[in-house]
Amino acid sequence: MAMQITVNGEARTIAAAPMTPLVEVLREELFLTGAKQACSEGFCGACTVLVDDQPVAACLLPVGLVEGRAVRTVESLGTAGDGLSPLQAAMLEHDAVQCGMCFPGILMALTGLLERRPNASEAEIRSALAGNICRCTGYERIIEAALAASAALRQPEGATP
Ligand code: FES
Ligand code: FES
Repeated sequence: MAMQITVNGEARTIAAAPMTPLVEVLREELFLTGAKQACSEGFCGACTVLVDDQPVAACLLPVGLVEGRAVRTVESLGTAGDGLSPLQAAMLEHDAVQCGMCFPGILMALTGLLERRPNASEAEIRSALAGNICRCTGYERIIEAALAASAALRQPEGATP
């Protein structure tokens, strides 16, 4: 039986069985290929998306469990044409991307953090990336870029957003 899920603000009707991993539905049924299916075991973070604003490994989450919840993928962030998010712009400025395989997951893990914690510290950024493996950059530029994005978003503690 078809079910409806909300992806990047749009209601989508899904034909896949409820136990199908969310990442497969995103990539193969909705053709949202930003989230990568790499390890399929929850280890690498390449498939990270936001579900109700929380980063999750979409390879481990059956699509039936996201019915009625809001899914956001990397396609919901900015584009070169429409304007990059502060996080994307900082990654570009810091030359933090190499092959890009890990990046959709890294961007969504950090987007989730910075939405919750615009004042995120380096320790919080490192913790948010604990489930995201990058084989290329050694993380330092990624963390520097995330700190720069945090600085750009920073507002006084306790201020009303
Ligand atoms: S593909 Fe989901 S964590 Fe690696
Ligand atoms: S940029 Fe290549 S794996 Fe991260």
